[in-house]
Amino acid sequence: MSKEAPKAFNVGICGLGTVGCGTLALIQGNSDELCRKLGRKLQVTHVATRTPKTDLNTDGMQVSSDIFDVVADPEINVVVETIGGFDPALELVMQALENGKHVVTANKALIAVHGNEIFTRARENNVTVAFESSVAGGIPIIKALREGLAANKINWLAGIINGTGNFILTEMAAKQRQFEDVLAEAQELGYAEADPTFDVEGIDAAHKLTIMASIAFGIPLQFDKTYTEGISHITPEDITYARELGYHIKHLGIAVNSGDAVEMRVHPTLIPSGSTIANIDGVGNAVLVHGDAVGATLYCGPGAGAEATASSVVADIMDIARIDSVGASAAIVPALGFCEPHSDTEVNDIEQISSEYYLRIQVQDKVGVMAKISNVLQNCDISIEAIIQKEAHSQTLPIVLLTHTAPERQINEAIQTLEALEEVVGKIVRIRVAPFADGTL
Ligand code: HSE
Repeated sequence: MSKEAPKAFNVGICGLGTVGCGTLALIQGNSDELCRKLGRKLQVTHVATRTPKTDLNTDGMQVSSDIFDVVADPEINVVVETIGGFDPALELVMQALENGKHVVTANKALIAVHGNEIFTRARENNVTVAFESSVAGGIPIIKALREGLAANKINWLAGIINGTGNFILTEMAAKQRQFEDVLAEAQELGYAEADPTFDVEGIDAAHKLTIMASIAFGIPLQFDKTYTEGISHITPEDITYARELGYHIKHLGIAVNSGDAVEMRVHPTLIPSGSTIANIDGVGNAVLVHGDAVGATLYCGPGAGAEATASSVVADIMDIARIDSVGASAAIVPALGFCEPHSDTEVNDIEQISSEYYLRIQVQDKVGVMAKISNVLQNCDISIEAIIQKEAHSQTLPIVLLTHTAPERQINEAIQTLEALEEVVGKIVRIRVAPFADGTL
């Protein structure tokens, strides 16, 4: 007698935007490969979308306009949430967990802000929530941090974790293009979030950094404690001056664990030009992770886009299919890698950090202005490492400084005093230098 074929694993997808469509296409396109790896068929049997698309192959699938039909479908093993945002995504995920369904989500905002309650609900219902695609698109960084580096105490991590922002900075640097012009192109290419301010103001990166820091350090998800600064104020001029000083400007998410406290910050950052991470261009993402046993490790690849993100979504679905195949109900590894309760290590405020700083000060071309600037910096105990001053072609000229390491509070005080000088015109541009500028990068 022939053996009965293993039961197919049924997937329901809620939301057919960029990631939802990419996921459907990947499951269909690689179905034989996935079946060989899982020993059973992976099939999408139910999709929900408010805007039906005619170019998708939905043969044999139930197509609903109500996403809640998918979580109520008794045949569905795993619900894939690719609608984004909080409402109705949170309700959908909670309902799916209540119904005993596993959930795969690409929604970093949802995990960063509501992850603590979502994981609790998943545990209560003995199901799994997987979220590899929520950070760095196609790079399996969650798995690397949580499982691959599990033996290490993670000291720090730093990453380019927003593809849109990196695409914009790369184009601005290479072609002296204006910020708005490049942003429009990134939106057309499908890299940007529905609200692009999430990309350019650092919110998207802060969501991702919050998730990584929690896994790295075993702290609860604390999005509200992640310092967030965007790139919309960066000009081609700053990129050029930074290059003259030997640095590239990248939008970096940085998390550090000193033991006594944790830092979580997203901001434009000067990185030594020769380092690998400074040369990750376009929509590419890269994350450096330093573990006490392994040292520095680097993970890079495409951080956005339909296929790259779908690669991580489908890998999560496959993990869950394997859990199901061995008769287990939920993943063995805790969602954030640590058994709870999580550590209550304090998260430092940005004012408590120390860094080297790039400062661009626009000044009137007058006698004694440089002396006044030096005097203010000296009074704040800030030492200058490098300086650029060009010939004036108008009434004002920029003075660009690189400082030695100083406490952020002292830099703030110096900036405030400098901006009050009558010779200083407008706001001073301040960009922090990467804390790992010792070749580790
Ligand atoms: N808008 C995001 C980015 C997509 O540009 O990185 C992936 O999270």
